Amino acid sequence: MYPKHFVGIADLDRSRLHAVLERAARLKHDLKVGRPHPLLPGKVAALIFQKPSLRTRVSFEVGMGQLGGRGLYLSPAEVGLGQRESPADVARVLSRMVQTIVARTYKHDDIVALAENATIPVVNALSDLEHPCQALADLQTMAETFGKLQGLTLAYVGDGNNVTHSLMLAAPQFGVNVRIATPPVYRPSAEVTRQAEALAEEDGTEISVMDDPYAAVRGADVIYTDTWYSMGQEEEAAERRPIFREYQVNDDLLRAAGPNTKVLHCLPAHRGDEITDAVIDGPASLVYDQAENRLHAQKALLVELLGAPPGAEE
Ligand code: CP
Ligand code: NVA
Repeated sequence: MYPKHFVGIADLDRSRLHAVLERAARLKHDLKVGRPHPLLPGKVAALIFQKPSLRTRVSFEVGMGQLGGRGLYLSPAEVGLGQRESPADVARVLSRMVQTIVARTYKHDDIVALAENATIPVVNALSDLEHPCQALADLQTMAETFGKLQGLTLAYVGDGNNVTHSLMLAAPQFGVNVRIATPPVYRPSAEVTRQAEALAEEDGTEISVMDDPYAAVRGADVIYTDTWYSMGQEEEAAERRPIFREYQVNDDLLRAAGPNTKVLHCLPAHRGDEITDAVIDGPASLVYDQAENRLHAQKALLVELLGAPPGAEE
C-alpha cells in the first residue's frame, strides 16, 4: 500500500475523498464523547515547515497525539530544505526514521521531490500551488452545516491562489458547484482550471470563473475568501490592495448573496482587507468551526494514508 501521497487533492480519488470526510465526522464525534481512538500507535509524522503556521502545525501535532503517535516539528532553520540538504536526501533519511512527512514549502516542486524520493506518505501542508488539507476541512464544515454537499454552490471571492486551487479540484467531486470571482490578472492557474472543469463535467456540476464578485455570490450557499497576498507575497500587499478592494467580503456582498449564505475563510484573516470584522465575527461566519475541522479532517487523512484497516476505529 505504501506510499500513498497527498501532494495535491487529486491524489485521492472520489471514493477515498468521501471516505476521509466520513471518517473525519466519526473521529470528531469520538473526540467529543471522549472515546479514545489510537489508530496510529507509535507512528511519527515529521512536520517540515518553511513558512509560519498556527492551524496546520497545531492540528497535525495534536492530531498525531490523539491517534497514539506524535508529530515532530522541524523548523526552517533545522532542515534547510533545498539549501542545507536536497529534498531528495531529506525524504530518504526521514523515510528511515518516521512514518510520514508533512511539508509546508514555498515551491510545490519541493513537495513533489519529497514524494518522489520518500518510501513513506508525503502530505502537502501548503505549497504555492495547493493547500489540500484545507480543502478537506472546508468541505467537512460545509457538510456538517448544510447536512449535505451535493447541489450546494460555493462562491470563492478574491485571489486565485493555492486555497482556490485545492477547493476547485475537490468541490466537484462532492457535487458542489463552484463560482470564482477574481481580478482578471489574479485568476486561478489555467491548468488547474482545466482540470477542475473536467472534473465538474464528469460530476455534473458547474464551475465558472468571472470578474464580478456580486454575480458570483448571488444565491450561493457559501462565500469563501482568503488573503489577497499569500505567505511570500507580503511585499506586494500595497500594490494588490486597490486591485482587490471590490472583492472584500463585507455586509453588502453578504446581503447580495442571500439570507442563509455562510462565510468561510481559511485564516489567518487580514481583517479590513479581504473580510470585515462584521462578517467574520457575525452570524454567517463558520470560520472557527472550519479551523477546528483541520484537526478532524487531517486525522482522518493520516489514518487513510498510514494504512490503518478500514473500520478499525468503529
Ligand atoms: N489555514 C492555515 O493553513 O493556517 P496556518 O497557516 O496557520 O497553518
Ligand atoms: N493563501 C494563503 C493561505 C494561508 C493558510 C497563503 O498561502 O499564505
